[in-house]
This record gives sequence, C-alpha cells and structure tokens, in this order.
Amino acid sequence: MANRTPVVAGNWKMNTDVESGLELAKGILKLSNSVSGVDKIVCPPFVSIATIAQVLCGSTIQVGAQNVSSNADGAFTGEVSTSMLRGFVSHVIVGHSERRALNGETSEQIASKAIAVAEAGLTPILCIGEDLSVRKFGNAESFVAEQLESSLAEFSAWDSLIVAYEPVWAIGTGEAATSDQAQDMTAVCRKVIRKLAPDAANSTRVLYGGSVNSGNVAELLDKPDIDGALVGGASLKADEFSKLIAAAGSN
Ligand code: 13P
Repeated sequence: MANRTPVVAGNWKMNTDVESGLELAKGILKLSNSVSGVDKIVCPPFVSIATIAQVLCGSTIQVGAQNVSSNADGAFTGEVSTSMLRGFVSHVIVGHSERRALNGETSEQIASKAIAVAEAGLTPILCIGEDLSVRKFGNAESFVAEQLESSLAEFSAWDSLIVAYEPVWAIGTGEAATSDQAQDMTAVCRKVIRKLAPDAANSTRVLYGGSVNSGNVAELLDKPDIDGALVGGASLKADEFSKLIAAAGSN
C-alpha cells in the first residue's frame, strides 16, 4: 500500500454560529493539536472562517471552506471567491451532494470550481457519491466513476486533490456504508484517477464520508483504499471528532 497520510476533515455544514464555532475549534485544538501522522481539517461556515483561522493559526489544525464560486470576482451576489478565501483556508470542499441536490450544481460546474480552487493554490476536497436508487439498481460503481470523471474534467493539479466518496444514503442517516462497500467504491475512485492521471493514483487521498463515528472509523480506515474520513455530525463535538483524529493519527 502506498504511504499516504490520512486525512480527517470535519464538514460543519450550516451548523454553529461564530461563538459556538470558536468554542468547537478551541476544543479540537486542545484535544488534537499534538496528534501527528494525520492531516486535520475543519470546515466552518463562511462567516466563522476568519475568526477560526486566527485561533488555529500556527496550530496543526487546518481550515477549509464548504464551497466556493468558480468566478474570480464581479456581479455574483452571495458568492465567495477563492481569492477571498486564500490566506484563511487551505482546502475547499466542492461538489458536496447537498449542493448537487439542493442547489442544482452540476459536475461541469463542480469541475470549474475544482480548477479554480487548485489555481488559487488551495486543495479541493471533491465529493462524489450515489443515492439509494442508484445503489438499488446495482449502478453505484458506474455512476460514481462517471460522476468523478466529469467532476475532474480538465483538472490538472493532480498533486493537490483530495477525493471524498460519500454515498448519499449514508449521509446523516446513522447508517454508514460497510467497510467493504466503502473499500469497493474508494477503489473505483482510485481506478478513475489512475485512468485520468496514472502518476497520481497512488498518492491521491480518497476519503470515505457518511455517518462516520468513533465506533466505525477504525474498521473503515483499515481498508487499503480508504485514506481518511469526511465527517458531518460527528465533527460537531470536539471530543468525538478528536477520537476520529486519534484513530487516524500515529500518536
Ligand atoms: P454525516 O457524517 O453527518 O453523515 O455527514 C457526512 C457528510 O456529508 C460530510 O460531508
């Protein structure tokens, strides 16, 4: 197995205000700052990013954004650009299934966002994943392969990419994919990367997301193609999130 540093990233979604987000970040800092051998990332809502980035500055905990515009600037009311985020964040989640489903984001738009993020010197955390009907029809592998390939159209910054396989049916349901299912699908993702950029396949981190918690994280991380976790609910409690970090880290 390639020697990939695991990643544990918390997607806070539309939870926490500036005050409670700051408390959460401070709690994670206290419990997890000294853990090594794992990349630790928190992705707060936009309004909290500057404050939290200031508190985490100089620590081992990195900050990410949950979304970004693919446009550089201009008349895009309500949008946030990569240049506004640069200096505060190191990572940006793009293509989360909630944005695909609720905001109608297409893989084409997501591909543009991933390129904009990489061009700004930041790392995209690109999400892909099938919903329950696709899985029930037995089409999960081909669906995810197609979704990943189209979300990476014209992407070229292969040394700056994290992929997160997040089956929609496992998100926020308390029913994570089994470790075998997650392994199969992260292996599919790696196969797509190998096809698009052979040299990047062994080094690109592929995460699993969907109801990850301290009870199932070890088994998931044990799988050869799962390089970490993108975490929703369990990232909102400092002690639970820090358990996930500890499970992925080396001390
Ligand atoms: P949950 O961990 O709450 O299932 O959310 C996963 C997720 O969507 C992370 O991006």
